[in-house]
This record gives sequence, structure tokens and C-alpha cells, in this order.
Amino acid sequence: MTDHYPLRDGIVHCEDVPLPLIAREVGTPVFVYSTAAMQDRARELTAALSPLDNPLIAYAVKANPNAAVLTTLAAEGLGADVVSGGEYRRARAAGVAAEKIVFSGVGKTAAEMAVALEGGLCQFNLESVPEAEMLSEVAQSMGRVAPVAFRVNPDVEAGSHAKISTGAAHNKFGIPIGDAPAACARVRELPGLKLRGLAVHIGSQLTSLSPLERAFEKVGAMIARLRTEGHDIATADLGGGLGLQYDPSAPTPPTPAAYGAMVARVTRGWNVRPIFEPGRLIVGDAGVLLTEVIRVKPGATCPFVILDAAMNDLMRPSLYDAWHGIDAVAPNGQQIVADVVGPVCETGDTFAVARKMDQVGPGDLTIIRTAGAYAATMGSTYNSRPLTPEVLVNGSDWAVVRERQDVEAFLRDESIPNWLARAS
Ligand code: LLP
Repeated sequence: MTDHYPLRDGIVHCEDVPLPLIAREVGTPVFVYSTAAMQDRARELTAALSPLDNPLIAYAVKANPNAAVLTTLAAEGLGADVVSGGEYRRARAAGVAAEKIVFSGVGKTAAEMAVALEGGLCQFNLESVPEAEMLSEVAQSMGRVAPVAFRVNPDVEAGSHAKISTGAAHNKFGIPIGDAPAACARVRELPGLKLRGLAVHIGSQLTSLSPLERAFEKVGAMIARLRTEGHDIATADLGGGLGLQYDPSAPTPPTPAAYGAMVARVTRGWNVRPIFEPGRLIVGDAGVLLTEVIRVKPGATCPFVILDAAMNDLMRPSLYDAWHGIDAVAPNGQQIVADVVGPVCETGDTFAVARKMDQVGPGDLTIIRTAGAYAATMGSTYNSRPLTPEVLVNGSDWAVVRERQDVEAFLRDESIPNWLARAS
């Protein structure tokens, strides 16, 4: 695949834009996204799944919900997998057709159900019978019939980090797959629902196809059984989860083509419309977090490189011990071993430990790679650090697609209650 962050004249570019230009104009830290990288991935996956019967690729909005990102992906023909009223609203605003929206999520509220029923959608992926009962009531009160699939929990260990594995029996997601016949029978009794299929999603950042294959086989067997019980099964939502190569020295994760071939083999004869919910795969590699070194501080074992980005900008290393590549924007050919940290007052605010990396010093720009997915969207304002801006690059064009948050907004959005105001 084309590298959309090429080193040209000794400087890392995003497509045709030198990163120092963005740092100068927007400041750091800043997330930068490559349009071409997202398009490449969307097209690669679309091609890999095209032998299937009318597949719907519903991009998991949670991975990166930026309006410009969603609009880019909608233009590629992707639908949206949403998990909140907010994500539903974003998908529609970006031009995703209602019939390409799948509503997942373990705790949908009545208000969120109503929003999606009003605006329309492909299906709700239900996570429990009580949820089915609530949705039926909401739909009936609106004079609608809600299209639904049951998310089943296949009890398969995904083999990824415990915090992002979802398909084991003890995880909160879905109904135990063995309960699907009873749950679907209950749906038949609920006048506000129409059963369309089954859904499964066993976890994220999967680097092997075999747990996915095991889960899909269980789903296929259950579809066959439900049909013998008279249910009309039209869709099978196979979730997302394909992992990326964060660490170049780690084994290469399965390609979209290998994934597509496995799905084609396992789902042969299912006679359903397959739905997919990829998030990370589509946007992860497309983004970097562009940051400047504030200073380098001596440490007990190796120096600390202190960046102006921190755990509030990119939570993944502190939350999941995630490994992200860190490189100089203008590498000088020398290397150092360093702990790379942010300025936040927690030891967990560490991006890398004893990392062999490009030599950098105060004022040097660096990039933290693979920061297009689950990065900006998980940001917080911890330590009263304003939310980081986002820039979208397209060839030699670039634009700020989220402004840097103004510190004054903290003061504006908070208020002093009367009794305190009186006291001062
Ligand atoms: N479908 C459902 C129902 C999901 O829960 C998820 C992700 C996806 C699709 C998309 O999965 P993907 O293709 O992106 O693996 N914050 C974590 C990842 C959390 C994933 C949550 N669910 C991280 O930074 O690794």
C-alpha cells in the first residue's frame, strides 16, 4: 500500500503537505489525517468483500467521528455503525443514507431508539430481551415496526487486549448464542419488531482470523437452526475487529483480502446480506498525532522526551499499554533510547518506555503514528488541556476540520452558583 506519510527532502509529509507547515499554522499537538489513506482502505475492503452478496460496510463511527472523516467515507459508499444518538446524528449529517445505518450498543435509551426510528435505519442490533421489549414499545408508540437483529455472544476469546475483547461469555455484550432461539421467539411476539438477522462482534485489534472464523461458524449454524424454527433471516452482521500493524516488528495482521476470502468461504450458502462494522481498519493508519518536544530531561535509566501531547490527547498507551510508532518529522539519522512522555501529572502519561527512536531535542516535531482510530475521539480535557485540533489533508490541500478548543471555553461552560457568587 502507498505510504501516505512519505519522507521527502528529509521531512515527513502527509500526502503532499509537509508536516512542519501544519505545525506552524495550527500549532501542536494536532491530529493529521490523510484522505487518500482512508480512501485506499475503504476501497481495499470494498474490493475484498465484493464477491459477497450485496455487502453493507457500516463504518464504526466510534473509531473517528469527525464530520470531515465521515463525509469522506460516506462518499466512498460506506454506511455507519452507530452506538448513540450522537453518532446517529453525525452519520446523517455527513450524508450517510438512513438505510445504511446499523444501531449497535449495549444500552440504547428509549430516546435514542426514537431518534433512529424517526430518521430510519437498516437495523437495530439488540443486546438483550428487555431491550427488545423496550424497542417494541417505543416503535409501537410511534406507529412503526423496528427492523432488528440479535447480537449473539459466541463465547469465543478474541485474543486481543482484555479491555477490547467482547465475545467471551463473561463480557457484557449480546445474548448467549444458545439463547437466540428463545429470544427470537420472543421477538415474534412483539408487535413493534421485525426480526432480520443475527449480529456478532468479538473484539477489536484482532490479529488472527481464527477466532473470527470460529465465531462466524457458530452464527451460521444458528442461522440454519432459526430458519428451521420458521424465522426469516435476511442479514448477518459480522462486526468489525480487524487489527492493524502498530509495531512494524510485530507479525503482520491479516489483510482485508484474506479476511474477505475467509468470510466468503465460511458464509457460503448462508443466503443473507452480510453487514460489516470496521472502524480501526479504515481510519487507524490514516492519522498521526503531530507533536513538539518540549524538553528532554535526564532519567534514571534513559532520558525522558517530554512531548506537548499527552494521555488526554491519545489514551491508548495508558489505557491498553498500546504500542504506537514515534518518529521525528525531520530525522537527523541519529538514534536514542528514551521514555516518551507527556506533561500530564500521572506516571501513566507515557507513550513509550525505553524506546529506540530518532534522536529528538527541544523544539523538534515528532509524530505518533496510527492515530486515526480511537485517538482524538477518546480525548479529554484532563489537566485543563484543551481538546486537540484535527486537520484533514487531501493531496496538497489541507484544512482544519476541528478547531483547537479555546481554554476560555472551560470558564464559559462552567458557572458559579449563587451562594458562591454572593460570598465573593
Ligand atoms: N462493532 C462493534 C459492535 C464494536 O463494539 C466495535 C468496536 C466495532 C464494530 C469496531 O471495531 P474495530 O473494527 O474498530 O475493531 N478504544 C479501543 C477500541 C474499542 C473498540 C470498541 N468497539 C482501542 O483504542 O483499541
